[in-house]
Parts: sequence; structure tokens; C-alpha cells
Amino acid sequence: MSSDIGLIGLGTMGAALALNIAETGFDIAVWNRTTSVAHDFAKGAGDLASRITPAETLEDLVAAISEPRAIILMVPAGEAVDAQIEALRPLMGPDDLIIDAGNANFHDTNRRARAATGPFLGIGVSGGEEGARHGPSIMGGGIRAHWDRVAHILEAISAKYNGTPCATWMGEEGAGHFVKAVHNGIEYADMQMIAEVYGILRDGMNMRAADIGAVFDRWNEGPLRSYLIEISGKVAGAYDTAANGPLLDVIVDAAGQKGTGRWTVIEAQHLAAPVPAIEAAVVARNLSSQRDARAAGEALFGAAPKELPEGTLSETVLEQAMIAGKILCYAQGFAMISAASDAFGWALPLPDIARVWREGCIIRSDMLNDMAAALTEDPDRNLMLAPHFANLLKMNHDGLREVVAQGALYGLPVPALSSGLAYFDAMRTHRGTANMIQGQRDFFGLHGFERLDDGSTGQHGPWAHD
Ligand SMILES: NC(=O)c1ccc[n+]([C@@H]2O[C@H](COP(=O)([O-])OP(=O)(O)OC[C@H]3O[C@@H](n4cnc5c(N)ncnc54)[C@H](OP(=O)(O)O)[C@@H]3O)[C@@H](O)[C@H]2O)c1
Repeated sequence: MSSDIGLIGLGTMGAALALNIAETGFDIAVWNRTTSVAHDFAKGAGDLASRITPAETLEDLVAAISEPRAIILMVPAGEAVDAQIEALRPLMGPDDLIIDAGNANFHDTNRRARAATGPFLGIGVSGGEEGARHGPSIMGGGIRAHWDRVAHILEAISAKYNGTPCATWMGEEGAGHFVKAVHNGIEYADMQMIAEVYGILRDGMNMRAADIGAVFDRWNEGPLRSYLIEISGKVAGAYDTAANGPLLDVIVDAAGQKGTGRWTVIEAQHLAAPVPAIEAAVVARNLSSQRDARAAGEALFGAAPKELPEGTLSETVLEQAMIAGKILCYAQGFAMISAASDAFGWALPLPDIARVWREGCIIRSDMLNDMAAALTEDPDRNLMLAPHFANLLKMNHDGLREVVAQGALYGLPVPALSSGLAYFDAMRTHRGTANMIQGQRDFFGLHGFERLDDGSTGQHGPWAHD
């Protein structure tokens, strides 16, 4: 039997993706560094085993796939990918395609695409194990003709939004992995805003985890309907038999990360594209890990009052804050993608990016469908200026302000929400304050400034003549 496609790396994601491919009706050959894993995987695949060919060696893997071949790599990002490509390429024909489906840094994908001696794609796969098994969101990058060769498989295994596959070619080289990184950055910010509201409900309003879960469940019936709100309701509602209480209350408050949020922030800085909500979320994760330092701070300064006077904030106001915060976070993410598209010479398809995120991925939400519509109308306009989202912001930004203000007054940290509010206020201020910065820069460095009244540039203050 000749397989339609091959896969290397039967870890969490690779195994799930291979089963998805087999279940969708394609024959797949698999190889794993620890070869017993491939055999055990095929044996444990039940009804799907007949579609799966475990390979003993890389040579066997290549031989098991029909030409021109396509092989997916699902190994840890970094050196493992380079090593696999190096081992695989000499065994493959000139038209055979290698697809890196891990979470590569898009700069690495750019480099690999430029150095490739044969067809190469870098694809971002989102949705975790569940998505990989039953339908992920797939963001492709590389030469379009190479994507077209495997698009029928990738679209078939992807999540569907009302029948539309959530698998799209994003552009050349590392474009797919870039879009995946920004997806993850947005994911960080969305999660952080939910965690901040959870903190207000828990510490400011003294609510029990199960009741907080019920709040998220209710929000999941409205404009905030999304996978992250849904799972937050389930996480808050989970009961732990060992603790005989809410599971959430015994989970250590230090968040892990694998670096994709950080890559987004670093890249945003290079692009001069403001993504403050994502930056705040990455900072918050870093701070969360400093448990000892936080304990020392609390011992020294005392805990903030935290508990809000009865009736200060309502569930409705918190929901408004989340709606406004979420719009602002996505507006930042899409503006960054737009900036990258120009800077890297990629024609990144913003409406398609919103469409591909509507199902399968971690940030899937109803709002993304409206974002796809707004970006289709005008892909270059900041989302917060699109009529639909401008109306939502007009209705909800007061709630965001109220939550941020009360958070500040009572010592409830809300960094992502407050950075979203600061972004909103800056973005609706025509006459800002950077004239002072330009004055300072000219004072100490004679950098020159532009005059507002006559438009003349390279101007200096009187200090230039001192
Ligand atoms: N987990 C997620 O939710 C998720 C979501 C999206 C993307 N990703 C990305 O998907 C990729 C795989 O993640 P995972 O969670 O599936 O990882 P994992 O469970 O740790 O599995 C890693 C796989 O790669 C193999 N491997 C490790 N080092 C290798 C090397 N040096 N050479 C060849 N093979 C090697 C392992 O083989 P052995 O059995 O021999 O150890 C295993 O099959 C990563 O890039 C990750 O960032 C993960």
C-alpha cells in the first residue's frame, strides 16, 4: 500500500494529527525517533490501523509514500526540525515536500524556506491535541504551488466553520508561522483578561469558584461566546475530590509559556506595531512565575484591600469590560499583522486570517466572524474603527474604564484590561502629548521637530542657540 502522506513525530500533536488524517480517509505512513512508538501507535489505532503504516527507518517511511511525496514534521521547534530536514532531504526526490507543522519561530521558517533544496512549507497548527485530532485551524506558509499540492488533505482534516475549511495559505516563507505566533499572542491576552476578571470576581467580589464558573457560562451565551470563555467556565466549575473543593483553588498561580507570546511581542517591537494587551499578558505570565518575590512584596507592603464595597461592580459591567478589552486586543493583533504584511512584503490576507480562526483554534469565537466581515469591508482599517466594533466600543468602554478604575483603587491587578483602555484612549486622542517628547529630544539631542502651525520640519527650540 502506498500512503498519501507521511508524518514524523508521534507525540501529543503528531499522533492526534495522524489519526485525524487517517480518519479523514487518507493513508498515512508514520515514523518516530523512538521507533517502538510508531508500532504501538499503529497497533492502538483500532479501526484506523489499516490506513496507518508504521515505518522502522526514515528510508522505509519515504518508500511507503506515493510520489511526489509530502511528509509532515511534528517535532519540537528548533534544532530537532533542522536535524530532521537534514536527515530526510537526501532520501527524498527533488519534488518531495517537507512540511514543518510545529510551532516554529517564523524567522527560522524564513531561513529554512530560503535554504531548502526541495519543496518546503511551514504551517501553524492551532487547537491543541483536541484540535489536531478532530479539526485544527491551519495557517500555511511557503510557495503557493506547494500548498496547493497538499491543500486537499489539510482542508479535509481542518476544522470547518459552517462548512468552510479553516485552513488557508497565508503567504510566502514564514507567513503561516508568523500568523500562528500572533494568534498565540492574542490567545495570551484573551486568557489574561479572563484571568483578571476572575481575580476581581474572586478577590474583589468574594465569589466562590463555582459561582465564577456560572458567570462565564452565562457570558458564553452572549457576545463573548468563545472557546476560552467556555473552558474558563469549566475550569472554574471543576471540583477536586482530593481537596474536597474547587480544583481552581489548588492550582498554583504561576503560568507556563513556550515562547510564542514572547516572539509576538518582540516582533511587534521590531515592527513598531503597538500590541500593549499582548505585552501585558506576557509580562503578567512572567510576574506570575515570581511567586517568592510576590510573597516577599505582600509581607513588606501588606496585601491590597482588594475587596470592593458591595455593589461597586456588577456582572454586567465586568462583561462590558471584557467585550471592550477583547475588541481592543484583537484590533492590536490584526494591526500588527497588517504592519508585518507591509514590512515583509507579504500580502497577508487579513479577512481570511479572521475566517481561519473562527473554528478549530484556541481563540475561536463568534466575534471573529464579525471581524472577518469588518476586515473584508476594509482590511487596512483598524478594527476598532469598523462601524460594528466602534458601536460595541461605544456601548462598552465605560464598563472597561470602571473596572480598570476600581481595580486600581482596590489593588486588583488588571494589566491587560488597563493597557487595552490606555490603547483606546490614545487611539481616540488626536492631539497627543508626544510634542513634549519631541521638545525634550530636541533639547538634549537637537533631534529637531515638526511645527504644527506651518508644517516646517527640522525645527529647533531656543536652546539650540544657547
Ligand atoms: N501541544 C500542543 O498543544 C501544541 C499545539 C500546537 C503546536 N504544537 C507544536 O507541535 C510540535 C510538537 O509538539 P507536541 O506537543 O506534540 O510535542 P511532544 O508531545 O513532546 O512530542 C514530540 C515528538 O517529537 C519527537 N522528537 C523530540 N525530539 C526529537 C528530535 N530531536 N528528533 C526527532 N524527533 C524528536 C518525539 O519523539 P520521541 O517519542 O522519540 O521522544 C515526539 O514524537 C511542537 O513544535 C509544539 O510547539 C503543540
